[in-house]
Amino acid sequence: MNITIVGTGYVGLVTGTTLAELGNSVYCVDIDEKKVEGMKNGIVPIYEPNLEEMFLRNIQSERLFFTTDLKEALDKSEVIYLALPTPPGEDGSADLSYVLKVAHDIGEMMTEYKVIVNKSTVPVGTADKVRKVIASKTKIPFDVVSNPEFLREGFAVEDSMNPARVVVGSSSETAKDIMAKIYQPFTNTGVPIIFMDEKSSELTKYASNSFLAVKITFMNEIANYCEKVGADVDKVRLGMGSDDRIGHRFLFPGIGYGGSCFPKDVKALIKSGKDDDFDFQILQATEKVNIAQKVILVSEIEKYFKGDLEGKKIAVWGLAFKANTDDIREASSLDNIALLTAKGAKITAYDLIAEENVKKLLGDKIKYANTMYDALEGADALFIATEWPEFKNPNFDLMAKKMKNKVIFDGRNMFPLEVADQNGFYYKSIGRKTILN
Ligand SMILES: NC(=O)c1ccc[n+]([C@@H]2O[C@H](COP(=O)([O-])OP(=O)(O)OC[C@H]3O[C@@H](n4cnc5c(N)ncnc54)[C@H](O)[C@@H]3O)[C@@H](O)[C@H]2O)c1
Repeated sequence: MNITIVGTGYVGLVTGTTLAELGNSVYCVDIDEKKVEGMKNGIVPIYEPNLEEMFLRNIQSERLFFTTDLKEALDKSEVIYLALPTPPGEDGSADLSYVLKVAHDIGEMMTEYKVIVNKSTVPVGTADKVRKVIASKTKIPFDVVSNPEFLREGFAVEDSMNPARVVVGSSSETAKDIMAKIYQPFTNTGVPIIFMDEKSSELTKYASNSFLAVKITFMNEIANYCEKVGADVDKVRLGMGSDDRIGHRFLFPGIGYGGSCFPKDVKALIKSGKDDDFDFQILQATEKVNIAQKVILVSEIEKYFKGDLEGKKIAVWGLAFKANTDDIREASSLDNIALLTAKGAKITAYDLIAEENVKKLLGDKIKYANTMYDALEGADALFIATEWPEFKNPNFDLMAKKMKNKVIFDGRNMFPLEVADQNGFYYKSIGRKTILN
């Protein structure tokens, strides 16, 4: 099948590459000329494990093409996927201007039947809005389908090639048949394709992300309570997770959720609720708790240094909002760096994958190290903000040699308490007792 993908970010590029890998001819459209030029020359614009190999293979096989010309791609494709940004507006609502602008352009440009598949995360009722915008521009028949994306950054290729389920919201039998054909390689191996109406499909995405945000936040509150009463969240988490109604996933406490999805989707669902005179109390509490959780260690750092952070050298390990991605949108690292620098601390950060994106934002307001150990040179304390695997088993002797003080504030619970203790570090993590060396 010939398919167009509009928007080649984390979702669009991975979806496009996956659909090409499944044998389709895929035309990826983006307004970012530099990005398109780079992709034409084989440059992957984002970091995602295993993406580059699949991307290059499909370019070579002439199944994956890039252009800034929507009309050119549209004329070649029967199915148009929208993988456009839906960032939060001032009031928390999802900004639909990118999606509706492209819908408008499609309406003006299309010359024959098209299926417009919305992969962006959008509020209930957006399929109707897209339909209206296109219909105001053309009399040619078309269908609008909701097909939310569930991939995780850092595992995007794996998730996209092995989805747990495919959700398709559509009221058109023709469009459903086309979608079933596109996803046949998955359904053939037992992946369920769940058809429903557009509204339910749109809400499925928000409900899924919001549920996961609630689960993380619930565990963070349990962790904070553990500290109050002398319980150990690692034990509690194992005990809870062994119940298969609960499961072990998303029970790891830390310095809050970030990224381009959970914060924005929780906000947008709260706002959609408000617009419909519905109060999402649990989501409001989740958002509030998460905002505080992201910077919960700052007061601990201040306490340790007796309220004086002026000139203190703090090494930060990890800048990405989570491991295996270069995405720094709403990353907890940024909130902590902002607070710490405002209090006079000097930051040296290490994250080779996300560093470039942080440099664009913070420039030389902080220093950047080439290795995790270089970041520790003369440091008064280490702050761990991202759970990159390379931090799991560090050389503690080398750390001790480099650092001025053997002090760790760990927002991701990277080490067993006894390891930090045996190596003589002061070690403050989340939901566990503080090691007072
Ligand atoms: N990132 C994720 O993990 C993830 C997962 C599931 C769903 N989503 C949702 O998918 C959507 C896209 O997210 P993303 O992270 O891929 O965004 P992104 O910001 O990484 O990429 C969006 C791309 O769209 C391009 N673009 C903007 N306007 C355009 C236009 N008029 N024509 C063509 N291209 C245009 C941008 O240049 C950019 O390359 C959002 O709604 C998001 O909520 C994201």
